[in-house]
Amino acid sequence: MTNPTRPLALEAYGASSVVIAADLAKPGAAAELAGTLDSRGLRIDVLVNNAGLGGVGRFDQMDPQRVSDMLMINIVALTELTRLLVPGMASRRRGRVLLVASTASFQPGPRMAVYFATKAYVLSLGEALAYELRGTGVTVTTLCPGATATNFFKAAGANDIALRPAMSAAAVARIGYRALTAGRRVVITGTLNRILALGGRYAPHSLTLPATAALMSRR
Ligand SMILES: NC(=O)c1ccc[n+]([C@@H]2O[C@H](COP(=O)([O-])OP(=O)(O)OC[C@H]3O[C@@H](n4cnc5c(N)ncnc54)[C@H](OP(=O)(O)O)[C@@H]3O)[C@@H](O)[C@H]2O)c1
Repeated sequence: MTNPTRPLALEAYGASSVVIAADLAKPGAAAELAGTLDSRGLRIDVLVNNAGLGGVGRFDQMDPQRVSDMLMINIVALTELTRLLVPGMASRRRGRVLLVASTASFQPGPRMAVYFATKAYVLSLGEALAYELRGTGVTVTTLCPGATATNFFKAAGANDIALRPAMSAAAVARIGYRALTAGRRVVITGTLNRILALGGRYAPHSLTLPATAALMSRR
């Protein structure tokens, strides 16, 4: 996280919080973060890999730095942090991991090609880890939200695309928390998102590619 102020809101609920700011787009940031947690004696029983970036536009016209940042944050940092923190959970036979993917995980996404591809990676990794870690006391849940009312679209330069947020962040968080605590493998937020995601997975891509491109295009 780069914004070290928000978790202080948790203290209103009686929780204590330690804020460690880290730019996960930087190579080695996950290892540095894991090292800081260790040196401070902070044991992690629940890991929520939420950080993520999008970017809209034709691939060959995208800002190369934005492409790199999406790969670093959505894939590399998520993978490295999970790899570094899960062994401790497994040794204690207790732990929960939440990977935030997307309904974008279920099909290729013209005009957000890199973002959709990174989220397909997250879903694939999450399901495989959930299977591998059966019986260890560690569960891995992959959360697949649909369009959600956060800063995501603005940050992705996608404020004026056809796809509009249909769910609040609080509703997504509640669904994700329930799935995490239940140890579910994959959760898609809401019926409409489930229909869209499974349609994206099973419908012919000759249909989903133009449909997704239209949703990712300016209104
Ligand atoms: N909103 C949607 O429609 C939607 C749909 C499906 C999936 N998702 C996924 O949901 C997750 C959360 O995104 P959001 O919707 O909440 O968007 P957001 O409001 O833009 O939040 C992005 C999050 O990523 C963190 N982040 C961004 N760049 C970072 C960096 N360089 N280093 C460390 N942390 C960084 C931000 O932390 P700071 O604010 O502290 O920088 C923030 O917590 C992402 O993985 C996204 O792909 C979103």
